Amino acid sequence: MVDKKIPGKRSDNSGGGKRTARETTVRVKTARERKASSTRWLQRQLNDPYVQEAQRLGYRSRAAFKLLQIDEKINVLRPGLRVVDLGAAPGGWCQVLSDKKMKNIVAIDVLPVDPFPDVDFLQMDFTDDDAPERLKEVMGGNGKADLVLSDMSPNTTGHRQTDHLRMMMLLELAIDFALDVLEPHGNFVAKVFQGGAEAELMALLKKNFKTVKHIKPPASRKESPEQYLCALGFKGTARKDARPEDAGNDGDGEDGDMRPHRDMEL
Ligand SMILES: C[S@@+](CC[C@H](N)C(=O)[O-])C[C@H]1O[C@@H](n2cnc3c(N)ncnc32)[C@H](O)[C@@H]1O
Repeated sequence: MVDKKIPGKRSDNSGGGKRTARETTVRVKTARERKASSTRWLQRQLNDPYVQEAQRLGYRSRAAFKLLQIDEKINVLRPGLRVVDLGAAPGGWCQVLSDKKMKNIVAIDVLPVDPFPDVDFLQMDFTDDDAPERLKEVMGGNGKADLVLSDMSPNTTGHRQTDHLRMMMLLELAIDFALDVLEPHGNFVAKVFQGGAEAELMALLKKNFKTVKHIKPPASRKESPEQYLCALGFKGTARKDARPEDAGNDGDGEDGDMRPHRDMEL
């Protein structure tokens, strides 16, 4: 059986004081046909302990560790829950959900995902008008969920304001969907950038959830502006009349307007 330990955890004996062969820095020579940015990306991948560990454990992406580390803090992955995974490709989070014995896992992405036996996958753009209804059809039952996750991030254009707007649109749609489908006491976790959600969205979340906080899991690269917004304990009846001044501060100093960003970690 494969030992699924999270790299960097104290109980993980693979690191510690000893250097292993895997920790030796791999340098990538610049090839004429490869752009400098691609060489940097390749070098980063080859030297990233989470990439190596994901390969060893058979995870489809290093993102799996982010979800595991977020869960260590908020404990939302409990067996038997109905969960929706927005922006699921290539499927690392789905694997974690499946390992944690979720009852009903529904996932969506514009990109294809190699099938999992226990995941119902919809290949579709979540921004399509009928995506929420299609998802609810796939969810079956009363179209409700206990947990909505979003790791969606748009392809960057290099134009900061455009990228910022696209990210905010995805977040807003994910929040709308969560407010629509979550059962009372349900939870919502979504990727955001820089200072977190904008004040208006924070206000909306604080009106509708008992606790709202931001988490930057260790597997999220320090240089990446990404972090995760965790809205816990859905109050049950969606209220959409929040004003920015209702947002308050969650004490982690990360609330407020989200600054435009360039380097998204996909
Ligand atoms: C960081 S990756 C997700 C990684 C995934 N959580 C995992 O563990 O493998 C972000 C994903 O969001 C998806 N995405 C971005 N915009 C989307 C949209 N409008 N609808 C559906 N998926 C979207 C991308 O295709 C991409 O696969």
